[in-house]
Amino acid sequence: MVETMIVELSSVSKSFRDGNDGGKRRVLENVSLSVKSGESLSVVGHSGCGKSTLLNLMGILDVPDSGSIFINGQDTSKLSAKASASMRASDIGFVFQSHHLLPQATVLENVKLPSLALPEKADPQQVESRALDLLSQVGIGDHANQFPGQLSGGERQRAAVVRALINKPSLLLADEPTGALDAGNADELAELLLDLNEREGISLVVVTHNDDLAAKMGRKLTIQSGELHELR
Ligand SMILES: Nc1ncnc2c1ncn2[C@@H]1O[C@H](COP(=O)(O)OP(=O)(O)O)[C@@H](O)[C@H]1O
Ligand SMILES: [Mg+2]
Repeated sequence: MVETMIVELSSVSKSFRDGNDGGKRRVLENVSLSVKSGESLSVVGHSGCGKSTLLNLMGILDVPDSGSIFINGQDTSKLSAKASASMRASDIGFVFQSHHLLPQATVLENVKLPSLALPEKADPQQVESRALDLLSQVGIGDHANQFPGQLSGGERQRAAVVRALINKPSLLLADEPTGALDAGNADELAELLLDLNEREGISLVVVTHNDDLAAKMGRKLTIQSGELHELR
């Protein structure tokens, strides 16, 4: 039986133009990585080593210079702009360090928003009940009709997780999701992410400086001089 791979990177390289001399800086060099369905991975390493670059590539927010990236068995380089936007919307959820909730929209409106990007129109009633259900599950059901500014930092970040999950993605990518939280809220968010991974089988890739969170993930990766290393 062929095991389901959620993400497969094969010899992926990525450079960025250097601001000063117009030269190029190799951020990732021939990186290969397979993430199986339901796996959890942490990505650690010093600032600027390429963690966000790796995550952005996995989430089709950026494209590699060379190499290939398969998401759910599909070669992302062969997708039209529209098809890749559809894949991003339906298969991949993102959580960033900053919640990026719209301040003028309620928490409920915010978390429902990604459903509008689905290739096939979702039933608004179903989206709403899923949103309310998820908000309750993460302990902020009572805040559904409030605005992000009325929530604490930890609550806002939990709303951002719900927004990332609203379209039932198979892959959740989180880039320093606890980076702006105090220790208590960081622990709670870490538990939430791990719980989602375990209960819902959602594959999880987390960039983090939080050692506790990194240690709880099934696999631990780091990037050094453009190379990906698996830590034990
Ligand atoms: N869009 C970009 N344009 C130019 N340089 C970039 C861009 N994105 C990242 N870089 C550079 O690539 C390197 C890796 O960045 P990044 O992946 O954000 O690191 P990390 O997330 O590990 O801190 C850094 O030197 C950064 O300045
Ligand atoms: Mg980063």
